[in-house]
Amino acid sequence: MTKYLIRGGKPLHGTIEISGAKNAAVAILPAALLVDGVCRIENIPQISDVTLILKILQELGANVRTINRTTVEIDCSRVSGHLVPDELARKIRASYYLIGALLGRFGSADVPMPGGCDFGTRPIDQHIKGFVAMGADVNVTNGYIRSKAKNGRMQGTSVYLDVVSVGATMNIMIAAALADGMTVIENAAREPHIVDLANFLNSMGANIMGAGTDVIKVRGVDRLAGGAYSIIPDQIEAGTYMTAVAAAGGEVRINNVIPKHLECISAKLIEMGVEVEEEDDAVIVRRSGALSRTNVKTMPYPGFPTDMQPQIGTVLCLAQGTSVLTEGVWDNRFRYIGELRRLGAQVQVDGKVAIIEGVTHFTGAPVKACDLRAGAAMVIAGLAARGTTEVSNIHYIERGYEDLVGKLTGVGADIRMIETPDEEAKPNVG
Ligand code: EPZ
Repeated sequence: MTKYLIRGGKPLHGTIEISGAKNAAVAILPAALLVDGVCRIENIPQISDVTLILKILQELGANVRTINRTTVEIDCSRVSGHLVPDELARKIRASYYLIGALLGRFGSADVPMPGGCDFGTRPIDQHIKGFVAMGADVNVTNGYIRSKAKNGRMQGTSVYLDVVSVGATMNIMIAAALADGMTVIENAAREPHIVDLANFLNSMGANIMGAGTDVIKVRGVDRLAGGAYSIIPDQIEAGTYMTAVAAAGGEVRINNVIPKHLECISAKLIEMGVEVEEEDDAVIVRRSGALSRTNVKTMPYPGFPTDMQPQIGTVLCLAQGTSVLTEGVWDNRFRYIGELRRLGAQVQVDGKVAIIEGVTHFTGAPVKACDLRAGAAMVIAGLAARGTTEVSNIHYIERGYEDLVGKLTGVGADIRMIETPDEEAKPNVG
């Protein structure tokens, strides 16, 4: 089994380059299916979710040409199939974007139920609500979501989302780009990656207005001809390294960021006594003194991102005083707390609220990644801990962080990947 071995207690110093945004890339790549021509997409993160989606596109008949480490050219003009292979698509949550893309392009889609990180139920009723409002019949049979536009083409309509959903907002936008008429999405999510998707589609010939606000208008066009686009930097990857400096101490310059996207994270870290200096496309984060407690509640953008909750939770465990951390988006995103307790964290969880009593330090121990961001939190905890921490289940982390070991060793962290004999399943004790 591959694990990370971390020898903690060393402040971080140096520079980290941020990669393209995972949650933009996993929507933009499936959206290339809408384009009857060549899409040149740059600044793609080298992560396993992206590799998987490119494989699925090829299985559907797309021609994918790798130009360099972070650039591909995708030609979907000869794609005809609308049946997505199960063994690939069920591994990731973002496979649901294939529904919107195939419905939008061909008027039909057979896509397996999505997989992805497990922190409570992750329904897609709002996605389906949008597709049905646009004139599609949608049925779930044998683990597949089977969708068909009644008269062969999606129809423009108005959709009011019952919950602010990133996925539903993006999926309906994708399905609407080639629809007949105008689609209005109300109570839309406003995350940076939603704006990125809209900008990508518009660069291919779509007509989308209002992305980044809670009302998005999509005037359907007959064809997307192709073009070139560069994905925005990853807000959550940058925030993850910001919290790593907060926990381990030191001074790190984080390049290729959009500081505006990091405002809520910077504000919280500054409240805790961390210094954050903004430049045009970089932030410099430094922490030398003690961390102060604060309260955090995760909310849809521009609130504090839920995908930063395990990371900030780890930092709060090392702050002086009592902090309250509230998860405002997902039902059950505190599974990582049990792992932090193995390092010495003092946390009481009650539903969506964690009461965190700061401790002076963590001591290293074997821990496991429960999901992508929880895994990142384990790494952050290991960097701060005295002694050695082993992090297992690192496949979760590799889904969303490009070259995490390389980027951290580049700023002086003692972290490396190790192979250990596969352990037989141990009974969960206690
Ligand atoms: C996206 O998930 C991200 N994943 C998640 O990031 C992120 O946590 C989430 O947005 C919120 O920002 C990708 O982009 C691939 P939602 P998504 O639809 O789209 C409820 C990571 O770590 N809901 O915004 O699945 C849902 O239960 C991952 O990178 C419905 O009720 O999230 C949740 O409570 C983890 N019905 C809330 O809305 C629906 O049809 C927000 O979910 C859809 C969602």
